[in-house]
Amino acid sequence: MTDYIPNRHRGLYPLDPSGLIGRAREELETPVLVVDLDVFEANIECLAAFCRTHQTAWRPHSKANKCPEIARRQLAAGACGITCAKASEAELMVNAGIDDILLANQLTDTARQQRLAQLQRRARVIGVCDDEIAVAGLAAAAHHAGVTVPVLVDVDVGLERTGTAPGAEGVAVARAIDRAEGLELLGLMGYEGHVLNMTPPAAKVAACVEAMDQLVMTRDAIAAAGMCADVVSAGGTGSFEITAAHEGITELQAGGGIFMDAMYRDAFHVTEDLGLALTCLTTVTSRKRDRVVVDAGFKTLSAFHHPPRALGRDDLELQYLSAEHGVFAVQPGGDGPRLGDRLELLVGYSDSTTFMHDFMVGTRNGRVETVFEIAGRGLLV
Ligand SMILES: Cc1ncc(COP(=O)(O)O)c(C=O)c1O
Repeated sequence: MTDYIPNRHRGLYPLDPSGLIGRAREELETPVLVVDLDVFEANIECLAAFCRTHQTAWRPHSKANKCPEIARRQLAAGACGITCAKASEAELMVNAGIDDILLANQLTDTARQQRLAQLQRRARVIGVCDDEIAVAGLAAAAHHAGVTVPVLVDVDVGLERTGTAPGAEGVAVARAIDRAEGLELLGLMGYEGHVLNMTPPAAKVAACVEAMDQLVMTRDAIAAAGMCADVVSAGGTGSFEITAAHEGITELQAGGGIFMDAMYRDAFHVTEDLGLALTCLTTVTSRKRDRVVVDAGFKTLSAFHHPPRALGRDDLELQYLSAEHGVFAVQPGGDGPRLGDRLELLVGYSDSTTFMHDFMVGTRNGRVETVFEIAGRGLLV
């Protein structure tokens, strides 16, 4: 019998996931996201240790997990805080007791600027700005709330997404923050997302170093103008080894590496020191000729950034995901699984997968030991 329980965030759960604790993997209904706890814990320690070695603070991005319990585990491993993408995610994390957060997206509307200001009463939540108009809005919100909001300048280091140009434009926004009553300039950030899939490796290293050079050059210019540039925050899983080793980087934002996935491994060539911790357990629901269909389609998994792949099955290649079907072709010479078999899929990109799920089960020695609620699922504002 399936129990229906109210869910604080989104209405109803199909079943109370905590009831899964103790259950054997083979007994789990599919599809279900599974975190291998031994690998996951080793990944957290690997990233934390890497940051310790390079004397860089670790502020893992939480967008791939949206899970306060995972944030707590990262803090326990030595993270200085976490990074969030949305104001509502930051609120969720503050409500869960996380008290040091970088909200890495500029807020431009009054309501959200006021929410960021209000959060300062309960935690340190650092904002980012790349525009003097947003600086003025955030300063007004801080003044209205009677608080001081810590802020980083967001610098475009080559991704061409958000951020000031390196150098003078960054200094100008820094000056606006520095002069604004109610804001405290802490330094700057820049995300080098454009280098992740570059090949050969030497080209990726060169592009990443160039990006970080731009960030550090901007830091020097801000400091030379007499302002604070103590925090230099950067880095993702796809380039963390290069970024964290760069002179002047004080904080690493790499987050998804706690899970690892097919894109990080196959397209970004992330070190094998990080193991494959997040998979999706599926069941073969149709087996015809050279075709295998599993019970996980694009409402369970995403192939948008990178396709999922069947672990330990070189004889299968993903053809496509429809809403509730994952269709694989059996390669010539391969047997393929049988109807009803379990198929473990390595997710293509953890970030574009987890947010579709209410929870992930954490397993050890073949049994569910914990359930990670993806409490930030649906928090988009
Ligand atoms: C601001 C920012 N920092 C860091 C990252 C890297 O995150 P991850 O390590 O989860 O790939 C991203 C990814 O999009 C990002 O937008």
